Amino acid sequence: MCRKMMFNLAVIVLCANGYLGYTPFRLTDCTSSPNRVVTVSGRLLDHPVRIPGHVRAPTTVVIHRPVNSGIRLDVTVEKFIFFDYFALPCVSRVGSCSYDACELLGRYDNKCPGQLRDSSFPCTCPFRDGEYNLQAFPFNVPNVRGPWSFLAYGDFRVTGRLVNITSGEEVNCYSVEFTVQSAAISSPWSLWGW
Ligand SMILES: *[C@@H]1O[C@H](CO)[C@@H](O)[C@H](O)[C@H]1NC(C)=O
Repeated sequence: MCRKMMFNLAVIVLCANGYLGYTPFRLTDCTSSPNRVVTVSGRLLDHPVRIPGHVRAPTTVVIHRPVNSGIRLDVTVEKFIFFDYFALPCVSRVGSCSYDACELLGRYDNKCPGQLRDSSFPCTCPFRDGEYNLQAFPFNVPNVRGPWSFLAYGDFRVTGRLVNITSGEEVNCYSVEFTVQSAAISSPWSLWGW
């Protein structure tokens, strides 16, 4: 019963993704704040994103003033289904969640991923102001398994807002739109592993 429902949902999602949606990669600045903390510009060299696969995203980040703490990151993950974007919930700190930005990055414990380290790109608080350039190093995109893995394929919009926790002021907003496909796209049924 459950499988049947999942199957129908999967077919709907597959059709919506396969025939209606194909989002070109887009990075949009969505803040009107005159007080922005960072300016980001970048490209995605591997698009659509393939699962499993890798992405290279040469990016320039300009940090306008030092950041120690007190910044919240609100993330909204939306998936395009048929004609509109639908927000995915926050589940186990994945999805549309809020994070303390410094605490989130604290998990790196000063051990930045090699790609960032090789670009002298900071990945933990505090951030000093300056311009940082992330080179086009590949990042692995791992395989997604499990019954909900079909959620991982399709057209997405991810919006990140930085909010000053003390003042409640939005200091940044960026959204990215992109498409995720299975690396085995030639055989769509292999998506489900059946
Ligand atoms: C947040 O806002 C307060 C009050 O305007 C300000 O003093 C503080 O520096 C801001 N924090 C950050 C990280 O921008």
